[in-house]
Amino acid sequence: MPGREQALGFATMKYQFLPERVVLGHAEIDFQHEMLFFVITGLHRLVKKGRDEGDCVIDPVHIENAFKLLDDYMATHFSYEEELMRSSGFPEASGHAGLHRKFENSMETFRERFMGVDDNQERAILTKRMLDFFFEWVNTHFAVSDRRFCQFLAAQKGEEPPV
Ligand SMILES: [Fe+2]
Ligand SMILES: [Fe+2]
Repeated sequence: MPGREQALGFATMKYQFLPERVVLGHAEIDFQHEMLFFVITGLHRLVKKGRDEGDCVIDPVHIENAFKLLDDYMATHFSYEEELMRSSGFPEASGHAGLHRKFENSMETFRERFMGVDDNQERAILTKRMLDFFFEWVNTHFAVSDRRFCQFLAAQKGEEPPV
C-alpha cells in the first residue's frame, strides 16, 4: 500500500509558496512549511490590499481570525516536529523546542498589542511588523534549526542529507 507521501505525490511536489532554499527534503515537514507560507502570504496580501486601497478598513475580525489560524497551525506544526524529535532521539530537541516557545510568546505579544489598538493605520503598521517578524523568523528557523533536524533524520535513515 502506498504511504501518505506517495499517495499525495509529495516527493515530486513543486512548492508554490515555500522558497526553494528552505525545502529541506523531508516531505511532511516541507508540506507543513508550505502551508505556513500559504497562510502568511494570504495575510500579507490582505494587508497590502488594505494599504493600497487607502481607506480600506483592516477588519480586526479578519486579522484576529488569521492570527488564530496561524496560531493553531503553528501549534500543530511544532507538536509534529517536537514529537518526531523525541521519537527519533534528536539530541538538540529541547533547545529546538525552546525556540518554538519563544516564537509563540512573540506572536502572542503581537496579538495582544493588535487587539488593544483601535486605529486602522496603527493596526496596519502592527500587522505589517508581525508579518515581517514572521517571515524573518520562519526563514531563519527553517533554514538553520529545521534543516539541522532534517539532516539528522536523513542521516538516521542513511539518506543523502539536505544541503
Ligand atoms: Fe522547528
Ligand atoms: Fe518547522
